[in-house]
Amino acid sequence: MRFKGAGHMVIVALRILPFASHVYALDLDVNSQESIKNAGSTATYNMMTWYKENGTDNPGFISRSWWTGAALFLACLNYWHATNDTTYNEEVSIGMQHQGGAGGDYMPSWAVGIGNDDQMFWGLAAITAAEYKFPNRPSGDTWLTLAQGVFNDQKDPNGKGWDTTICGGGLRWQKELWQSGYTMKNAVSNGGFFMLAARLAWFTQEKGYATWAEKVWDWSTSVNLVNDTTWAVADSVRKGTGGPDGCSLPDNTRWTYNYGTYVSGAAYMYAYTNDTKWLDITNSLVDSIFTTFCLPEHGGVITDWTCEAVGQCYKDANGPLFKGLTVSWLADIALMIPSLKDKILAKLQISAEGAAKSCTGGNQNLCGNRWYGGYDEQNSMENAISGSQMMSAVMLKFLDSSSKPVSTATGGNGTSDPSAGTGQRSGPAPFAPITTADRAGAGILAVLFVGCMIGGVVFLFMDP
Ligand SMILES: *[C@@H]1O[C@H](CO)[C@@H](O)[C@H](O)[C@H]1NC(C)=O
Ligand SMILES: *[C@@H]1O[C@H](CO)[C@@H](O)[C@H](O)[C@H]1NC(C)=O
Ligand SMILES: *[C@@H]1O[C@H](CO)[C@@H](O)[C@H](O)[C@H]1NC(C)=O
Repeated sequence: MRFKGAGHMVIVALRILPFASHVYALDLDVNSQESIKNAGSTATYNMMTWYKENGTDNPGFISRSWWTGAALFLACLNYWHATNDTTYNEEVSIGMQHQGGAGGDYMPSWAVGIGNDDQMFWGLAAITAAEYKFPNRPSGDTWLTLAQGVFNDQKDPNGKGWDTTICGGGLRWQKELWQSGYTMKNAVSNGGFFMLAARLAWFTQEKGYATWAEKVWDWSTSVNLVNDTTWAVADSVRKGTGGPDGCSLPDNTRWTYNYGTYVSGAAYMYAYTNDTKWLDITNSLVDSIFTTFCLPEHGGVITDWTCEAVGQCYKDANGPLFKGLTVSWLADIALMIPSLKDKILAKLQISAEGAAKSCTGGNQNLCGNRWYGGYDEQNSMENAISGSQMMSAVMLKFLDSSSKPVSTATGGNGTSDPSAGTGQRSGPAPFAPITTADRAGAGILAVLFVGCMIGGVVFLFMDP
């Protein structure tokens, strides 16, 4: 929390506020650790105002789109990892464990019609927590258990995961027949499962996960979801003609996060195996992201131009999240493979500078969707999440090997219940119900939050 002054300053600031008319860009010097920290603090504070919008007995549940909760918690984990600011950790920890549900596999009873990609993002949030040594809750499922729960469920055809009935393998987008995406096998579900398997291999140092990662990769390249000659990543395939294995030709719509899942998985596979095959793949896909999404006409700033260029990203709650996830994975890749740091950092800095100049909304540095050409009036929870992710990612310059995602060989907590996600947990479910203590904790956080808000006002007042 940045507020340090005495009470009367707060009052002065509140009186002054209505007269403040100057529009500030999010103040950012990408070569100053303090400046990035301040920008990240503002962006993350703005993001969390959305989370508090609807007080809930179901912590971590975002009503308009369930997986957005995973994206938000990923942003919080990255913010904490980049800055050591623990302001939001308790809420993150409560919500992330709670959404895991009774099976410990992010298939909670209240989230109806979950897609493989939705579930996967929660699994990524859990493995990120494990890799960053985010403290486990005092009881209930550990972060490792929750990540394994998702993996176990997705590798199992009975869990409506891995499926060989069409296209010779792969995960369907949706798990349920009644959903239109059921006919599709999409890049983000499969790339995300690949990444989760690779990260579990790295974290646990167990070969079984790497075998699965190889299998997903081989399938993805065999149906040209990933083209390992041009390094283009497609969006989806389905049953049909034109492609291999009774599969249609890929839908070639380009999205940053499809590339991001595969490149991140490849980086963890390199870290786990030391096989230069994976280093070459990582390099090729990193370059492909830059040539595809960081275009000269946008000043080199990363864009999901498929929707951004036509101002349509806001129409669904997903698109604005993609590039935020992608920049966060690029930063992690550079921590896993330090030889890629200079190349990645240079691009992140360009995008962060663009984002800072665009995050000028509402006199409180709200972020819109596009990170070039100034504020585009598209303040939303999703755009706030990506803004926060960008500021955390550009902290890369100041992170060294001590911030590298850990494995159980380097201090990661390997406590887990390996039966999560198998549908046959032994003994009582280790799922911890929301306790009075948790509720009290949330109350304290609400008070802290008001403090934080006042701090934010003072910050605005003191901003030169
Ligand atoms: C809060 O609730 C309102 C009304 O149900 C809904 O429109 C809005 O999307 C919710 N906000 C979040 C962040 O879930
Ligand atoms: C790992 O997590 C478990 C479960 O929460 C906990 O009991 C244990 O103390 C943790 N170990 C370390 C070294 O933090
Ligand atoms: C990969 O290299 C690291 C660092 O030299 C080493 O600790 C690890 O055991 C190697 N892993 C394998 C699978 O060879």
